Amino acid sequence: MTLNRRTFTALTAGAAAALALPAQAATVAPEPGRRHVPHTVTFDKYSLLLDDRRLVLWSGEFHPFRLPSPSLWTDVLQKMRSNGYNAVSIYVNWSYHSCAPGQYDFTGVRNLGRFLAVAAQVGIFVTVRPGPYINAEVDAGGFPGWLTATTGTARTNNSTYLSYADEWLTAVNAIVSKHQYTDGGGTVLLYQLENEYSSHLGDGVGAAYLAHLYAKVRADGITVPLFHNDKGRNGDWIPGSFSTNGESGRYLYAFDGYPSPSSTPPDWGYFGPGGAKGGSTASPDTPGFEAEFGGGWFDPWGGAEFAGQGYAGARASRDAVYERRFYLTNLANGIKLQNVYMTFGGTSWGWLPAPVVYTSYDYGAAVDEARNQTSKLVPMKQIGLMLESVPDLAELDRAADVTASSTAIKTYHLTNPTTGAHFYFLRNDTASDQSITVPVSVSGSQVTVPASGAGIRLTGKDMKVVATGIAVGRRTLRYTTAQPMYAATIGARDVALLVGRTGDPVELSLAFAAAPTVSVLSGSATSSYDSTAGALRVNAQLSGLIRVLIAPSDGSAPLLLLLADDEESATFWKHDSFAGPVLVRGPALLRNAFVMGPVAALNGDTTAASDLEVWAPTGIRRLLWNGSAIPTGHTVSGSLSASIQLPAPAQVTLPALTNWRYAPENPESAPGFDDSAWALANKTTSFSTTPVPAGQPVLFADDYGFHYGDVWYRGSYNAQAGAQSVSLSYSSGTQGMLMAWLDGVPLGTHRQPVPTKAQDSQSTWTATATFAVPAALSGSGPHVLAVLVRPMAHSEDGGSNDAHKAARGLTAVTFTGETPAPSVTWRIQGADTAASDPLRGPLNNGGLYGERSGWHLPTFGDGAWQRMSLPSADTSQGVGWLRTTFNLAIPRGADASIGLTLTDDPARAYRVQIFLNGWNLGQYINDVGPQHTFVLPNGILRSRGRNTLALAVLRDGTTPAGPSSVSLTLLGLTAGGVPVEDLPLTATGGRRH
Ligand code: GAL
Repeated sequence: MTLNRRTFTALTAGAAAALALPAQAATVAPEPGRRHVPHTVTFDKYSLLLDDRRLVLWSGEFHPFRLPSPSLWTDVLQKMRSNGYNAVSIYVNWSYHSCAPGQYDFTGVRNLGRFLAVAAQVGIFVTVRPGPYINAEVDAGGFPGWLTATTGTARTNNSTYLSYADEWLTAVNAIVSKHQYTDGGGTVLLYQLENEYSSHLGDGVGAAYLAHLYAKVRADGITVPLFHNDKGRNGDWIPGSFSTNGESGRYLYAFDGYPSPSSTPPDWGYFGPGGAKGGSTASPDTPGFEAEFGGGWFDPWGGAEFAGQGYAGARASRDAVYERRFYLTNLANGIKLQNVYMTFGGTSWGWLPAPVVYTSYDYGAAVDEARNQTSKLVPMKQIGLMLESVPDLAELDRAADVTASSTAIKTYHLTNPTTGAHFYFLRNDTASDQSITVPVSVSGSQVTVPASGAGIRLTGKDMKVVATGIAVGRRTLRYTTAQPMYAATIGARDVALLVGRTGDPVELSLAFAAAPTVSVLSGSATSSYDSTAGALRVNAQLSGLIRVLIAPSDGSAPLLLLLADDEESATFWKHDSFAGPVLVRGPALLRNAFVMGPVAALNGDTTAASDLEVWAPTGIRRLLWNGSAIPTGHTVSGSLSASIQLPAPAQVTLPALTNWRYAPENPESAPGFDDSAWALANKTTSFSTTPVPAGQPVLFADDYGFHYGDVWYRGSYNAQAGAQSVSLSYSSGTQGMLMAWLDGVPLGTHRQPVPTKAQDSQSTWTATATFAVPAALSGSGPHVLAVLVRPMAHSEDGGSNDAHKAARGLTAVTFTGETPAPSVTWRIQGADTAASDPLRGPLNNGGLYGERSGWHLPTFGDGAWQRMSLPSADTSQGVGWLRTTFNLAIPRGADASIGLTLTDDPARAYRVQIFLNGWNLGQYINDVGPQHTFVLPNGILRSRGRNTLALAVLRDGTTPAGPSSVSLTLLGLTAGGVPVEDLPLTATGGRRH
């Protein structure tokens, strides 16, 4: 059978859906993805138990709403699974799915059911976290805009709030309940109630609220264990702290933590201070569970957090070495459920970003915003595969302290009470390399390792695991100073992969009753056999890949030792096929492996010409790579090796962006503009936390149903003579701004300041902009004051004090010089909700004239607009739009990740909203930054076809305004990728229910 790419993909998807448990993996990692087979999900104090098999959860956070292209969900989930993660944790963002009470949309980019089905196909467990409150650096912490205009304090047991929260939970649980591992519908394994709920601890309100959520979620058919994510280590909401309706043993305590990368890694479990604030010790009968542990951090407007470097700064400070030290410390502390926040950060597109962040939510995560695999995945894969291959790690007790030969090394000693394996987690907190010996327990005796004089090397700020008494395939590793990464029985032999830093001396001792034959197949290694101990000792210094084949004298299965440095380890991939495990070396990524008869069909990516070597189940003689037959030969390592290199990706050239067309807008500023259809802003009361100023109408945008993006106000009044100035008070998220015109004449622009580092977390900014009234406009008679406010985002509600209800938009307007003050009739207009866009959803648009008129859409005809070439240098205050189209012809089989880059003189005061094919992919603030490049996700971006780019430019009017340079940037390129469906250009079938 010839497998082309398409049939291969179909086959693998179907195969994964019905995944059989491979014999080897069954004892180690319960394999997700078997449909309609019910499972039990329980736990004891050590770990989760799936059908009574232990699972260490090695999870990464990824928000589907931050990757608005469902095809690419497969890409990121495959990258996670292949890099050793066995779980993904997702927030589900209420606001993303609900534009109005009673309306919930789970279609298109909001198709949660599709995401969960993809996760099951990929074979990765899911932790679902639907709030109702999520925080997550999204607008209002995930509360829908409309909730800001409702009564009752959110995150309490207020009945109005609960009725809305229940409405959301009913909608989301109807989907989640169909994808649970318990019921066999999918791989949802855990479900989080609320997030970092640290309020109303002792007054009964919090307990009643959580009890309500617990009961509601169970009533909705959620049968997996539930948990809450305790903010830091407060010991809040441990089992028993609120009613679980008589149900016991179905609720876990979890906490989160974001330690400074420059601190000593914290002991939040077995080795810590203990007690309620000790982390996992708050709940000794449930397994250590970090529902979030820092994998990066977010960056505010202006970039103060990382000194303007943006997310490169996050990735540099939370690098691979950070991961080894901090995550291994967690494992040493008995943390058996660990979720790295974020593993793919993605994009806070449209009006998703909370005030504390800008568009990119790259987070410095292991998979970057452009979906590239970064070097941060290397330790994650090493640890993730180790957890799968060394089941002893799932049940560990603290053991007697041991002291390494240097006190500079922190040593954590643990043992598995069932198997007797011992683990020594060694951490170097100094900046210099250390070489040590450690007394370890081998078959009940104390042995100082290594026996050779070379010592165990720990480079500065590094951490590694030394193990004793573990199995590698059918053999016993008495001890190893190289960290185990993977071991399996593959075909007729056992294969073990062990890793460390380049230059590390390593020593392994293996149990053999008689001297085996040892062949060093590549690199250099020495061995010696001790017949008294029945032990073969292997010594090597890591450099690239060292292969040692050990053939027992009794003719039993040989063992292939693969000793790899980090760089080499990154080229190894494993996949559990029907026929057994497959280990692959060479490509940049193995997505999956499908074994059929003598053929192993592999699917993956290359970034350069690559080797392909495969250890496959017995009988495999042929290899396909992405559907193409690859000539192979057998090696002495027992592998099949390609006799050609896998191809590098084809070159890609991106077009220049030219042929711009331009149209000015803001007709709303003109006195004669017809605003009769706009809402009258004449309310007198509000549920906002911002007080309504005495004697003034409510001007808060949310009270009139305008929750996202720009809002226009037009105030008409009949003046007496003599107005000298007008003061506009407004309230916004970070980087809010307003522009005002009187009778069509610009009064000026006001902007909230760029946050300093100390203001990183300030979310609501208020200011009063006072503009002089030009003498010519202060006369008696009718006047129109027009104000455009960019309110940015609503605050999150981390303190459960309705912070998301702080007003957005104008709050008060006063005149000086006129007595009595003129009586102003206000009208307000924001996003055109009547023409809402079910394809792109409620967060795509605000109320600019161009947005209300569809100028952002690819279907809009701009033929009458004036031609323009960049740079632009308009100095007028107001709004203008630029549009162009470009064609891409990315070769099939290439995954090109493309961004849009804007650069200009940083003194120029303007901002740009970027619409690609109608999708609002971000906001650029030229004189604030730090973001200059915006990811354009494939699916929205048509890799083969025509694209329409529309830029909505707000010019402060104080300097010439750009944009000056706008170009496409290639952010990533691989041969491989996943098939991508282009999203439709128009909303034909957005379904609401
Ligand atoms: C946590 C919170 C997350 C996110 C994170 C910081 O405390 O639970 O939602 O806000 O901090 O990125």
